[in-house]
Formats: sequence, C-alpha cells, structure tokens
Amino acid sequence: MSKLDESRILIVGSNGQLGRALTKQYPKARAIDSDQLDISDQASVDSFDWTDIKVIINAAGYTNVDAAETSEGRVLAWQVNAVAVKNLVHAAWTRQLMLVHVSSDYVFDGTQTPHKEAEVLSPLSVYGASKAAGDLLAAQLDEHYIIRTSWVVGEGKNFVRTMHDLAKKGVSPAVVDDQIGRPTFTTEIARAIDHLLSTSAPFGTYNITNDGEPISWADVAHEVFTKANAEGSVTSITTAQYFAGHPNSAPRPMHSTLDLGKIQATGFASADWKSDLKKYIERETQR
Ligand SMILES: NC(=O)c1ccc[n+]([C@@H]2O[C@H](COP(=O)([O-])OP(=O)(O)OC[C@H]3O[C@@H](n4cnc5c(N)ncnc54)[C@H](OP(=O)(O)O)[C@@H]3O)[C@@H](O)[C@H]2O)c1
Repeated sequence: MSKLDESRILIVGSNGQLGRALTKQYPKARAIDSDQLDISDQASVDSFDWTDIKVIINAAGYTNVDAAETSEGRVLAWQVNAVAVKNLVHAAWTRQLMLVHVSSDYVFDGTQTPHKEAEVLSPLSVYGASKAAGDLLAAQLDEHYIIRTSWVVGEGKNFVRTMHDLAKKGVSPAVVDDQIGRPTFTTEIARAIDHLLSTSAPFGTYNITNDGEPISWADVAHEVFTKANAEGSVTSITTAQYFAGHPNSAPRPMHSTLDLGKIQATGFASADWKSDLKKYIERETQR
C-alpha cells in the first residue's frame, strides 16, 4: 500500500476463505476471527481495542445459504451479515475508520446480466436479504468500499474443492447447467482490494470476480474433472431438477455474472478464471 501503513489494517474473519487470502496479502495486518471478536456482539465491538486501526476489512460472513433458510440459520445469517455490519459501521463512524465490506451476487434476483454495481437490490433468499442489508449499512459510511463477488474459491470449503474430492473418489455428480457466472479465486479479491486501497480509488461499490467467459456450475465441474484426470464424469441437470431433489435449498440467482467495467476503469485487470482454476487444481492434487 502506498499511502496507508499495512499494520493499520484489521482483517475480520481471518480464518475464512477470503480472510486467509487477505492475511497473505497483508502479512503485517492485524488479523482476527470470531474467537477473538464476535462482530455480531455490539458490546464486544465497542470495547475492542481499536488503537492504531485505520482500515477494517470485513471478510466475515454467514455463508451457508441453505442453512440460512432454517429458523436457526435465519437468525445467524442476519446476526453476522447485517447486525455485525451495523456494529462495524458504528465503530468506523465513531473513530473515522475506513470500511471494506464484502458482498455477494445473491443481493440480486439474477434476472439481469451482467449485474452492474448500481442495479437495485432484489434478493431471493434469506442469505441474500441479509447481505443486502449489510450493503445498505456499509454504504452509510463516507469512506467505504463494498466489494461484490461471486462463486468464491479459496482455502476452505467451496464448490471446486468439493468437485475435486468427488473426482478423486471416482464419484460422478449431477450438476446444474443453467446457473451462469464466473468463479472468483480469493487471491483476486485480495489483489483487487489492495488495488483500491493503494490507488485511493473513489469510494463506493465495486464488482470483482475473475474474468473470462461466464459459464455454468456444470461447466466448472467438467473443467475440474478434466484437469484432475478423473475417472468419473459430470452429468448436467437443470436447477428445477436439482430443487426437486433438494426441496429445502435456498433459491439461487440464475445469472451471477458481475460486470467488471467499473474496477477495470480504475486500472485493475483480473485473471481469467481458467488459468486460476488450473493453478488451484494443481495445488489441490498435492494436498
Ligand atoms: N463463498 C462464496 O461463494 C461467496 C460468494 C459471494 C460472496 N461471498 C462473501 O465473501 C465473504 C467471504 O466469504 P468466505 O467464503 O471467505 O467465507 P467463509 O469461508 O465462510 O468464512 C467466513 C468467516 O467469517 C467468520 N465469522 C462468522 N461469524 C462471525 C462473527 N460473528 N464474528 C467474527 N467472525 C465471524 C467465520 O469464523 P468461524 O469459522 O469462527 O465462524 C469465518 O472465518 C463473505 O462476506 C461472503 O458473504 C462469498
């Protein structure tokens, strides 16, 4: 970072997929997770030692979209994705801190494509609604970046790792071929956040995903199976067929592709998802 000392960054949610990439991007930053600070608890956030912090990067989230449809999960999703953002916004407001907050394609109903930053929020699911509330709260700060991303792949549980594990076991999964988007490797999100901070880009909302041709989940699975030289194969099914077998699933946006024009105009070019997927599978094979 040019103008800001890395050691004055606080990474919240540091054990999550994105949190891990951010702690690699900023090894001198202060990195904490829920065991050190429960951000959904207002009193804990207020009494936290904010000395020397200038920028909060909120990589924490309740990300289990199907569990968020249950009575217990609904509460947790709202606590972590909305109430906690209110708490961080309060901390930032009272101490003049900058907030970098991470959001999702699930704030949209997926009828438009590609999604531009200014599209009106239209969440379909509990998770999406809780993330949309978080966006509205974060946007109240003058000094904020909201990073909208989709189909996140990093160190942790994600679709690519699940498909790779199935490929290794010789299992042949059925995967939806009518939800379209782009995978996003956490290294690209961390790099984009650093670009925005280090160039002092105008505050506001930015889409960030890997670049490349938008594809379906089934296409991603096919790529994983091919790159892993798997014995099994991927069968394509429709979302309607998938939901028939999983009636308690959260509704998903059919179109998740995010328009990258705004961040590209600041001078940031994200890598093609195919090249990052290749590197990821090579690492997974050695895991
Ligand atoms: N995953 C995706 O496909 C996807 C897609 C679009 C957008 N996003 C957004 O990207 C961001 C990062 O996602 P991710 O996949 O990296 O998430 P993740 O791997 O599920 O990690 C979330 C992190 O948040 C922490 N956390 C949860 N509740 C907390 C609390 N009350 N206080 C402090 N920390 C808490 C978790 O800690 P514990 O493990 O200790 O609970 C965990 O380390 C989230 O905002 C998510 O909504 C994700």
